[in-house]
Amino acid sequence: MEKLEMLYEGKAKKVYKTDDENLYIVEYKDDATAFNGVKKGIIQQKGILNNKISTILFELLEKEGIPTHFIKNLSDREMLVKKVKILPIEVIVRNYAAGSLSKRLGIPEGDKLKTTVLEFCYKNDKLGDPMINEYHIEAMGLATKEEIEKIKEYSFKINEILSKYLLSKNVILADFKLEFGITGNCVILADEISPDTCRLWDSQTMKKLDKDRFRRDLGNVEDAYIEILNRLEK
Ligand code: C5P
Repeated sequence: MEKLEMLYEGKAKKVYKTDDENLYIVEYKDDATAFNGVKKGIIQQKGILNNKISTILFELLEKEGIPTHFIKNLSDREMLVKKVKILPIEVIVRNYAAGSLSKRLGIPEGDKLKTTVLEFCYKNDKLGDPMINEYHIEAMGLATKEEIEKIKEYSFKINEILSKYLLSKNVILADFKLEFGITGNCVILADEISPDTCRLWDSQTMKKLDKDRFRRDLGNVEDAYIEILNRLEK
């Protein structure tokens, strides 16, 4: 598999073309950003850790019947993925109140929500990724009704699979963000699943083991990512 020119550089990853027109290589970076790019930094080894963590979680989801863009791990920082057209929608799944939900609705962080909450945001840096609903998605032509239904079905199923798996590792999946892509006529899970995109709390102590340690200057950021990887590898 030959790595060709870079197609796109995001905040945490680079995407490269390959000599196979249907496949891309994703390279995970150590760069960390928060608050829509306002806060910038480096988390040592983050690219390596997130590549490994995402690999484990994508493999689990594939095994459980969720179609993903993941094909295989190529190196410390690289994975081979299917070429998809990423939908400009961020899907947020919440089991516990935290972050922007706590702020917006005044629910204390750490409160368990009575039912799982699904939110959509329009992926647009200039607008600050505003929250949208299914009507906006259809009206703006971001996805079809059928695609939205698939996204919802997969998101709830992914939440069930990951919550159960992580709890067996003594980790609470408080909330997380997903991105989906289109290949052919199919909706598949894309992007990454890592402590950058999930809120992960130790189930005994509620200690934060995710990017909130960077966002909120809590220290020991790299150690938290290493702790998650160690628990998943056990
Ligand atoms: O900030 P907020 O509380 O809305 O984030 C909800 C979840 O989505 C968190 O797990 C956060 O890490 C993730 N997220 C993300 N990328 C964004 C926005 C949120 O990974 N652009």
